[in-house]
Amino acid sequence: LTRERYPVRRLPFSVVSGEDLAAFERIVPGRVITDPEVLEASNVDWLRTVRGSSVLLLRPRTTEEVSHILRHCHERNLAVNPQGGNTGMVGGSVPVFDEIILSTALMNQVISFHDMSGTLVCQAGCVLEDLSRHVEERGFVMPLDLGAKGSCHIGGNVATNAGGLRFLRYGSLHGTVLGLEVVLADGTVLNCLSTLRKDNTGYDLKQLFIGSEGTLGVITAVSILCPPKPRAVSVAFLSCPGFSEVLQTFSTCKGLLGEILSAYEFMDAECMWLVTHHLRLASPVQDPSRFIPDQHTGRRYHVAESVCASEPVDPESPFYVLIETSGSRAGHDAEKLNDFLEQVLSSGLVTDGTVATDHMKVKALWALRERISEALSRDGYVYKYDLSLPTERLYDLVTDLRARLGPRAKHVVGYGHLGDGNLHLNVTSEAFSPSVLGALEPYVYEWTAEQRGSVSAEHGLGFKKRGVLGYSKPPEALRLMQQLKALLDPKGILNPYKTLPAQA
Ligand code: FAD
Ligand code: MLT
Ligand code: ZN
Repeated sequence: LTRERYPVRRLPFSVVSGEDLAAFERIVPGRVITDPEVLEASNVDWLRTVRGSSVLLLRPRTTEEVSHILRHCHERNLAVNPQGGNTGMVGGSVPVFDEIILSTALMNQVISFHDMSGTLVCQAGCVLEDLSRHVEERGFVMPLDLGAKGSCHIGGNVATNAGGLRFLRYGSLHGTVLGLEVVLADGTVLNCLSTLRKDNTGYDLKQLFIGSEGTLGVITAVSILCPPKPRAVSVAFLSCPGFSEVLQTFSTCKGLLGEILSAYEFMDAECMWLVTHHLRLASPVQDPSRFIPDQHTGRRYHVAESVCASEPVDPESPFYVLIETSGSRAGHDAEKLNDFLEQVLSSGLVTDGTVATDHMKVKALWALRERISEALSRDGYVYKYDLSLPTERLYDLVTDLRARLGPRAKHVVGYGHLGDGNLHLNVTSEAFSPSVLGALEPYVYEWTAEQRGSVSAEHGLGFKKRGVLGYSKPPEALRLMQQLKALLDPKGILNPYKTLPAQA
């Protein structure tokens, strides 16, 4: 898939030899994988849109092993592709040619957890969901959450500077990551695994690696600050008659819910169609008999007109918002949430909805939003855009593209982290179509640049988007990034062909 669609030439790296294999076998005995069947899964990305042809997968367990591997690769001029859970959305997690795949899958040990401060120190290959369980048992939560939690690794999260579903409340990993241990391209171990909240001694080097997508170093351990687990969590899943109402509902909820607001996500009716149709999830605002009553009030929020998700989607059809509150006292939160709901229902900003506080019901409502990407991938070939835009213009691009693409697209959908100004614009077609791609690009990027938005809000640039960095950053910034790359990885062996545009 890779080379035909994204023209790129292999750089003059060495090819893995028998002697290299023997050297790796000494460094990570029994964890040098050359079996093509095992390699297949690591060569293809989650979206199945890019494929590499690596013949070697290494599975170190320790930082020292990573260091020895990189020292050898550096000496031998062998290219390396760091890989976590392989859930990345921009083709950064798989090789482009025959780069060696360096997996963190076996680096999955928690090193320490401080139950006064909530500081977690762990190896980079810990799966996010396992970490969540670990800290929740101790009364804390991870400061980030994403639909890929069951597979993605914390090292991958840091390497992509993942945003996700808790960003609105706990902010970026640039704030919650306290320290990192990184192995540089030549094998040097950079131990900046601080657990301090405050540390202004010199440049904050860890920040360089957060979001560097495996191009500057291999993250081997992470120190991260976990907030206390909220005692009360409620989710309201509401339908709004138009995007303007989605925005007004957001303003209202910021005012009325204040400090307990922890997520404000949105999805359009086509997304609802996709999750109900492809994943057989039930829409809570489609059939009143499926309504989940609020545990505290027993009230059901329902107005008769709601979208029938099994019918073809009407472009005028409503939007859905998922609002989460997290606080320390259930009664207080319920009171605030009820005031908010009364207001948005009586003013017509919201036409229908349901509220849940029970853990399983909360999860079921979140699944409608979290599983959109899975539903999309069952719909056909997915053209994926992840944009930061001024919130008030965020949906204009979706409407515009529906008209522009017409019947060439199966679906043109908009969803995302509205509270963070982050639109996920996705288009599907039966199979990959150069004509659809031609209608989308560079149009989407130009539209975004005109709004002074970002062409990658949270997924990074990886392989697929490295050519569009210039839409969101000036040439001086690009040049400095190239210089930093050359300083930290002079031979360019770490994740070549990724993140930065190809140099002339
Ligand atoms: P991988 O996919 O394996 O790698 C991603 C990149 O990081 C690659 O460039 C790789 O080389 C590099 N890398 C991985 N590990 C390391 C390491 N230890 N050291 C250096 N570089 C490394 N992203 C969001 O931001 N927000 C979301 O809400 C979100 N939701 C998602 C939902 C689903 C269903 C899926 C499939 C993906 C979602 N993503 C989201 C994208 C993806 O999960 C994140 O980018 C995630 O952080 C990647 O982690 P990973 O371990 O799978 O990394
Ligand atoms: C999400 O928010 O669901 C993720 O970023 C994945 C996606 O964009 O599809
Ligand atoms: Zn997202």
